[in-house]
Amino acid sequence: MNLGVNIDHIATLRNARGGFEPDIVEAAKIILKEDVFALTMHLREDRRHIKDEDLYNIKKLGAKINLEMAATKEILNIALDVEPYSVCIVPERRQEITTEGGLDAYSQKEYLKEFIKPLKDKGIIVSFFTDAQNKALEASKYAGADYVELHTGCFSNAFLKNDYQNELEQLKKASLYAQDIGLKVNAGHGLTYDNVYLMKEVANLSELNIGHSIISKAVFIGLDNAVKEMLKLIK
Ligand code: PXP
Repeated sequence: MNLGVNIDHIATLRNARGGFEPDIVEAAKIILKEDVFALTMHLREDRRHIKDEDLYNIKKLGAKINLEMAATKEILNIALDVEPYSVCIVPERRQEITTEGGLDAYSQKEYLKEFIKPLKDKGIIVSFFTDAQNKALEASKYAGADYVELHTGCFSNAFLKNDYQNELEQLKKASLYAQDIGLKVNAGHGLTYDNVYLMKEVANLSELNIGHSIISKAVFIGLDNAVKEMLKLIK
């Protein structure tokens, strides 16, 4: 399994004081020294953490960027200009603290099919962030996604209550089904140093995207060590 490190939380901390610290480019350089697959960044409509220039500055480092984005024209134009390695289409609500659920790929499948065409034409890999539901997986395949990223938020919440078997089973089934219908599978959201080992039970996950837990650990042991520790757990 590969690791994508979500660096939104570094930008959140920086923006809390409106200045330049912690410097997201310096953070990216530290992370890229480790065996990580990609840097994940979510350019939100309200720019609450990652800002447009962050994307361009990280791109200049030659990093593989996995750009999380809502399916809007404004962000599409930026994605087409930045040309990240991959995009992950996520639902976005302004009031939410973080992405709260998977994309409703089913009811938007025609829209999404058209929406991702220019990205695919540029060779950008497209992933949809979905719940572990067959309907959403089928719609993702129909719309032309290469990957789905299974939403692990419910599993992570259930893990905290020590009642996660059902959520884990759903992820396992969804991963198998997604691969059966020709999708590759990533997973992410809410994963931690404590629960990530269970992702090894979910068949053939390509990549885990993890942010909050790594950046939180970095406060205590440093960013390089926090990334190393997570890599040890998933490789
Ligand atoms: N994957 C997606 C699609 C997300 O929206 C997020 C949160 O930005 C993550 C992964 C990472 O979640 P966390 O910060 O909880 O590890």
